[in-house]
Amino acid sequence: MTRSVTLIPGDGIGPSITDATVRLLDAAGADISWDRQLAGAAAVAAVNDPIPEATLASIKKNKLALKGPLETALGKGFRSINVALRQAFELYANVRPAKTVLTGLKFSGVDIVLVRENTEGLYIGIENYIKIGDDPMAAAQSMAVITRFGSERIIRYAFEYAKAHGRKKVSLVHKANILKYSQGLFLEVGRSIAKEYEGVVACEEKIVDACAMELVIKPERFDVIVTTNLFGDILSDLTSGLVGGLGLTPGANIGKDVAIFEAVHGTAPDIAGKGIANPTAVMLAACQLLDHIGDTPRASRVKNAIEKTLRERTALTGDVGGTATTEQFTDAVIGNLSAA
Ligand code: NAI
Repeated sequence: MTRSVTLIPGDGIGPSITDATVRLLDAAGADISWDRQLAGAAAVAAVNDPIPEATLASIKKNKLALKGPLETALGKGFRSINVALRQAFELYANVRPAKTVLTGLKFSGVDIVLVRENTEGLYIGIENYIKIGDDPMAAAQSMAVITRFGSERIIRYAFEYAKAHGRKKVSLVHKANILKYSQGLFLEVGRSIAKEYEGVVACEEKIVDACAMELVIKPERFDVIVTTNLFGDILSDLTSGLVGGLGLTPGANIGKDVAIFEAVHGTAPDIAGKGIANPTAVMLAACQLLDHIGDTPRASRVKNAIEKTLRERTALTGDVGGTATTEQFTDAVIGNLSAA
């Protein structure tokens, strides 16, 4: 059955890397009809709205979107269009795989999937200043809210993901030794969910600071990590760094009804329009999309072709040490589909 997917090409390098991805998926025979919609600076230029109603309606109807990076215009009432989309569709799980493919990096053997809670914690946006004496900004406070519901939802997602993908262990990352209430609740929920998976998926508890240290000493010992919003934000950039940077890492934002897949990097204005951007991250995000809709064999085939192309090093783009254009890299991946 043909799946209709909202395609947001995005800004800067977005249109060229999403075009490359559509070409790759077509070559792989994916049965997808792309519903092209605007967001970001392109939408402001066309209809003076960074997230037009038509785009929201398309995502709501299709329940799936693949998106290029978006430029968040300053002073338009949004902290970030990406955050606004996550809130509009309650995309509670941010899933970022980081796997070593390129050789010659500082770290090898990394294959981590980081699952970050995307809606709660310190990101709920409740902040205020406290006036003391004559100083209206003498102090500031930010509220972190962790709920049993939100913790259960994200931790269960991580365990189910591990089970479905044949992964062996979930690391439950927290700071309950200091934040006894909020992080304590997350840990308590995690312990009770872990019991349900005993014998299927192992669970270990890690305090976030120790986890950060271990990630750069023995990254290969981590499998799936689940953690709260701010820790996930920081650790997921760390895990991207272990495998060569943001240009290579995709991200899925998963909700109950809607899922949006994207590259983690931005619009790369310095190289936009030059045809030299690396499309790997959006291509891998498209693999996450295929996997999400149950087309796992095709997801694996496309991913293997991308990894083979990166390992061969004959058609690498400039950011990872090559001289190939976006088009040449894409041709090489398509050429490797048959061998994958
Ligand atoms: P950036 O990720 O766009 O660029 C940082 C550096 O990485 C640049 O040197 C760029 O050329 C390079 N780079 C990034 N992606 C690349 C790729 N696929 N191939 C080759 N090189 C690549 O980050 P920056 O400059 O901080 O942000 C630029 C714009 O992107 C801003 O407007 C920001 O708001 C937006 N942004 C959007 C995101 C999204 O929509 N998910 C995420 C991050 C930033």
